[in-house]
Order: sequence, then structure tokens, then C-alpha cells
Amino acid sequence: MPRNIEELALPYLKHITPYKPGKPIEEVEREYGIKDSVKLASNENPLGPSPLALQALREAIEGINRYPDGGGYYLKQALAKKHGVEPENLVLGNGSNEVIELAARTFLSPQDEVVMADPAFLIYRLVTAALGCCQIMVPLKDFRHDLKAMAEAVSPRTKMVFVGNPNNPTGTAVEPEELETFISSLPEDVVLVLDEAYYEYLPIDARPDAIKHVREGRLILCLRTFSKIYGLAGLRIGYGIAPPGVVEAMNKIRQPFNVNSLAQKAALASLEDRQHLESTRAINEAGKRYLYEKFQEMGLVYVPTAANFILVDVGRDGEEVARALLPKGVIVRPMGGYHLPTHFRVTIGTPPENERFIQSLKEALAFSR
Ligand SMILES: Cc1ncc(COP(=O)(O)O)c(C=O)c1O
Repeated sequence: MPRNIEELALPYLKHITPYKPGKPIEEVEREYGIKDSVKLASNENPLGPSPLALQALREAIEGINRYPDGGGYYLKQALAKKHGVEPENLVLGNGSNEVIELAARTFLSPQDEVVMADPAFLIYRLVTAALGCCQIMVPLKDFRHDLKAMAEAVSPRTKMVFVGNPNNPTGTAVEPEELETFISSLPEDVVLVLDEAYYEYLPIDARPDAIKHVREGRLILCLRTFSKIYGLAGLRIGYGIAPPGVVEAMNKIRQPFNVNSLAQKAALASLEDRQHLESTRAINEAGKRYLYEKFQEMGLVYVPTAANFILVDVGRDGEEVARALLPKGVIVRPMGGYHLPTHFRVTIGTPPENERFIQSLKEALAFSR
């Protein structure tokens, strides 16, 4: 018999609780013996992928006996054009999650200080805890990143700062000018990981342009993903935009075939489909207005969102309410892991999904009153 496995594993792992993803539809349906459930727990695109992506996948499927292009040549060409950068500025990942992890493993050693907001996307915390970093958590102010406090929290020991904009799980965004001030206040050798997974949901005038700082060589890693508005979460593909030196360093530890060939093809095709993006934004805006109205009618407090999900305070155990929704076939994300015990987070769905969610929520709340 081996020794206690916890003793053999890295010491930092002892305090880590594994990331709990949104419950998969299949699991809920199996557990409750139901069909046609709606998943509003992982901020996916309720319209599905672009038809152009599906067509590209059909055409690419025959070639999966081959390894993918480890350099992602065609996708990087297209992304470079889209963002006005060079292919050398781009690193592709198995989801933007992988790019977060690559960045952390590239730059951070045990005891290095990292600054992040609380609550923010849990992966920043998990990945840096696994490396034995010293985490400086800066509380949100009115559910938004307090960039002034974050700038003050940066010390000579700080190596990396994480900012999610819009932030998950609150859906809040910082003003572009606030971000500019923050960037100019950061010491030049601190890496800013700017997670823009929901960037495309922001209104045009609320979108910061951090890529211009990347072009100037600032230590910024902008993260984007195909999992959200592009509707390709299941394929796992995201990317980072950073100065070439940062990309080169990250490539040293990147698995050579980290992004599969189908994901690359579908992502490339998705970039062509402006209509799909517009429809997704439109359905998101309409769903947002509907849900706000219903929450107000129900007397529930919510955080106005800049993304495709809403943080709702149900004024009682959010975990219990989320659990009560499951047998009704509605999956939302409880927020206990984010120290928000009376909240849950719900993804904005299609109109029928939103209606079903509201009806089920009314029933669940009436029952638990
Ligand atoms: C803020 C934020 N960043 C990154 C991700 C990861 O996305 P992916 O790894 O699917 O690209 C998510 C997913 O929920 C997110 O909410």
C-alpha cells in the first residue's frame, strides 16, 4: 500500500477544493428521470454554434486521423487580422482556461504574490494556489472590481494581477478609462492577465482597448474564448494576445497539440459569422430585459450584467433554491463557492428557456417560503 496520497502530492494541493463545473444536462436527467432540461449554469450560447462552424466541422471530421496543426497557422492568421496584431502575439489554448494555467506556470514560483479580486473566476485562485503562490484577494466594491484598491495591493513581490472584465460571477465591467488608469499604475514587470471571456457582450463604447498596450510591448495577456458568444464551449478553444516574448515563453511549456483540429476549423469558420454574433447579442439583450422585469416583479435583487449571465440574490439559501430547480429540469449555478450563499448565477437563455426558468423559480421560492 502506498503512503497517504495527500502526503505524496504537492503540499499546496491540500487546501484546494476542485472546481465544480455546472451540472451537465445528462447527469441531471439521469438523476431525476426527466427529459428536456435547460442548462443555465455555465454561460454557454443558448443559440448553439454558428451554422458555418457546423459546416466546417462536417468537412473536417474525415481528417481526424491526423494530428492538428500545433502552431494553429490559419486560425492565428485570421485572429491576427481581426485584432491588428502579428501571429507571434497569439497563443492558442484548450479553452482560455488553459491559457490562464500556461501563464501562471510560465511566470509564477512558490511564494510569488498574485493579486486578484474576490469573488472572481475561481480558476485564478485554483491555478495560483496549486503553484504555492501568495494570493492577495481584493474584495469587490458594489460587485465591481475595485481597481484603485487592487493597484494599492500591488507590492514589490507582486508578479501577476488578474482582472476579469466582465467579471464572473458578478457580470460587472469596469469603465475603459478606469482600466487605462489601472494599467498605467502597474509596475512594468507585473503581468496583467486581462480575462475578456465575455468581451463581445459589452456595448461597443464600454469595450476597453488593452490590445493597443500589447502592441506597445506592455506585459499584458488579453484572454478571449470561443466558448461563450461563439458557442463552441464543448470543443475547448480560447486564446491569449500578448507581446511575442510572453507567447514564446508560454510556448515552451505548452503541449504541442493542445488545440484539436476540429476546434481550430470551427473557430476559424465562426469568425466569419457576424450574423450569429448579432443574433446572440440580440437574444441576450431581450432575455436580460425579460429577466430583470421578472426579478423586479418577484422582489429579487440582481446585479445588472454586462455579460450573458445574472447574479441573483434570492434572500435565502441559494444552494437550496438551485437544488429545488433541478427536478424541474432547470440548472443554475449556486454561489456558495464564491462566498455568496444567498445568490445563484443564471445564464440568459432563449425566451422559452427564460420563461421556464422563471416559472420554476416562482414554484421553488413559493415552496421554500
Ligand atoms: C471569466 C471567465 N474566464 C474564462 C473562462 C473559461 O472559458 P474557456 O476555458 O471555456 O475558454 C470562463 C468560463 O466560464 C469565464 O467565466
